[in-house]
Amino acid sequence: MPEVITAKTAGFCFGVDRAVSTVYEELEEQPGPVYTLGPIVHNEAVTEDLRKKGVSIVEDPEALESVEKGTVIIRAHGVARSTDELLREKGFNVVDATCPFVKKIHRIVERENAEGRRVIIVGDPQHPEVAGIRGWGREDTLVIQSFEELLSLALPQSQKYSLVVQTTFNYEKITEIIARLQKLDYDIRCFNTVCNATQERQKEAGEIASGVDAMIVIGSKNSSNTRKLYDICSNRCNATVLIQSLDDLTCKDFNSVNSVGITAGASTPKHIIEEVQTYVRS
Ligand code: F3S
Repeated sequence: MPEVITAKTAGFCFGVDRAVSTVYEELEEQPGPVYTLGPIVHNEAVTEDLRKKGVSIVEDPEALESVEKGTVIIRAHGVARSTDELLREKGFNVVDATCPFVKKIHRIVERENAEGRRVIIVGDPQHPEVAGIRGWGREDTLVIQSFEELLSLALPQSQKYSLVVQTTFNYEKITEIIARLQKLDYDIRCFNTVCNATQERQKEAGEIASGVDAMIVIGSKNSSNTRKLYDICSNRCNATVLIQSLDDLTCKDFNSVNSVGITAGASTPKHIIEEVQTYVRS
């Protein structure tokens, strides 16, 4: 039987936990329909349970044109200021479950713009969190994914800049990007806004993956923080697999390995982690 090491930081982070609990609370309290703007969490088991209890997922505010008025819950990723305003103008009861760490970035962007500084976001431009952050900044807000991309833009040195980071960005990579940026001749303020939960989860996953024969990362392939965990672990352990639940575990024979590590993304419920852990142990 292999030794199994499960990361203490695996599973729901504070922000996702809070957002999911908010939906269950609103279901109890609100008499009318309850919607979430996008799935509240990248996990089908959770969204399916909520659907059965009557929560509808709407993908964008336009889809709300044709539905009965009710409560709209904004998920942990947050939304652009214009989306927030639009929902309120349309007469919905808006419940904002944006993670406080993301909300803090919105405030930084507003404040830095007010001081005349151009904002640069480091993150995935397609990710809803980044789109939301961008929506609190001026038109000229930039999104970049790497130091090289920033250099290629040849930004004028006459301008002042402020840099913020997607909360789930790779902590080691951003530390390096910031260090390289600070050596250049730019007036740039850097706010490393990778959240603590992400930082600790990535650190622990890397440590576990370095010392085991096989590593299991549990989470959705659509989840940004899960994919980053997979990258970190596969760099340290060749036998790393990414699964959404126990059903996806194709290599089910762990008799030949001495140790297996398990971690999970921020949107993976505890019971799925426990199932995988019990299976590997037995
Ligand atoms: Fe918030 Fe960090 Fe989770 S920003 S939603 S605590 S990954």
